[in-house]
Amino acid sequence: MANIIFPSNFLWGAATAAYQIEGAVNSGGRGASIWDTFSNTPGKIDNNDTGDVACDHYNRYISDIEHMKALGLQSYRTSIAWSRIFPEGKGQVNQAGLDFYDRLTDKLLEASIKPVYTLFHWDLPQKLQDLGGFNNRDLIYYFRDYAQLMFEKLGDRVNLWITHNEPAVYSHNGHIWGNHAPGIADWKTGIQVSHHLLLSHALAVEAFRQSGKPGDIGITLNLTYFEPASDTPADQAATIRQDGFGNRWFLDPLFKGAYPADILALYESHNIAPDVMADDLARIKNSLDFLGINYYFRFAVSHKENDGLLKTYARAVVGPFTAMGWEINPYGLYHFLTRIKSEYANIPIYITENGAAFDDVLVNNTVQDDRRIDYLEKHFAATAQAIAEGVDVRGYYVWSLLDNFEWSFGYSKRFGIIYVDYETQQRYWKQSAYWYRDFITAQKNKSS
Ligand code: FCB
Repeated sequence: MANIIFPSNFLWGAATAAYQIEGAVNSGGRGASIWDTFSNTPGKIDNNDTGDVACDHYNRYISDIEHMKALGLQSYRTSIAWSRIFPEGKGQVNQAGLDFYDRLTDKLLEASIKPVYTLFHWDLPQKLQDLGGFNNRDLIYYFRDYAQLMFEKLGDRVNLWITHNEPAVYSHNGHIWGNHAPGIADWKTGIQVSHHLLLSHALAVEAFRQSGKPGDIGITLNLTYFEPASDTPADQAATIRQDGFGNRWFLDPLFKGAYPADILALYESHNIAPDVMADDLARIKNSLDFLGINYYFRFAVSHKENDGLLKTYARAVVGPFTAMGWEINPYGLYHFLTRIKSEYANIPIYITENGAAFDDVLVNNTVQDDRRIDYLEKHFAATAQAIAEGVDVRGYYVWSLLDNFEWSFGYSKRFGIIYVDYETQQRYWKQSAYWYRDFITAQKNKSS
């Protein structure tokens, strides 16, 4: 690691998301979101955990920013809870919600930390789900209006924006597999939601560009590195399908203005292709100043005749694994960084999430998380390699700053570089936090 030097303007950061850390779900006029509904439905979340309290960040943001400052973070990515701004998703604006993000922004800037806000990290206002959620085309306008308000209120101080976080996970897990909110299991709905997410992203970007506010706006995709489990033609074809379903379905419209023909044909043959109106794809094409990539793992893919519509079986089979059962494979990050440049565009990239959960144990007020340090170090090296080959990577955000509510896994999975004792809300730096602080300091010294 000693030899790795990143560009001097590279941003080192950490990421979180509103529902996973804020808690205070009934404070400050916040409206309910689909994650409140889902997590409070018994049996949906491990241990029936909810985000009701989470890390209580809504009340502790000032001391959390002190931790960020002590870490030397140059940037911090979090999300805005739509239902704090519009408790019903649209219509009446909640001033207390605006004030919270206003104060958060000012405190970050006072600490010389550049805020990056994701507008939608899955916590859709419940009232909008009652109208059909993102399956309803009207949502693209409600999202655009919400985005526009945030640009207006914060655009003088915030100049990096992300529209959606992981539209693939939101549409697939939330609407096809049903293990995330809103808990729907229907292919047609899931694919339609994916289209409306992309389109709403494009409308928000148009609004940003029309606002005249300075800065850049992009979208964050989760990219999973799929490789064939064997070299049989069937497994290779399955890998292409899986990559098409999870990755190309989102990348192609953003960069090429078209859904991938192979996957569209598959959906058409099952009557689940999305309803797309004239101009939708033209609006989605090139609707980004940068691409955000969330990268975590590799899956080996085999053809499985009876495994549903995709006929693929994509699983982590070769270790080492994290506590999520995810296979650690830093090469996959390098693969995507270079592939975006060669197959899509030489566009600025931010790694908006990367990190790992392990079975952390607090001993003497810290966690000896050598495996997390090793994970981060290897992914930094993969990033450096891509930069050396000309990929325009501009920043890296470790997931996560704090242990937090890990969706359907509740609090059972710990991704933080800072350990959270949920009983006392005390924060304890894991060894990875000290390591990251020293790494950032060394980078600053090298480039100054
Ligand atoms: C990503 C999510 C993020 C977090 C990590 C572990 O899919 O964007 O909120 O849960 O996974």
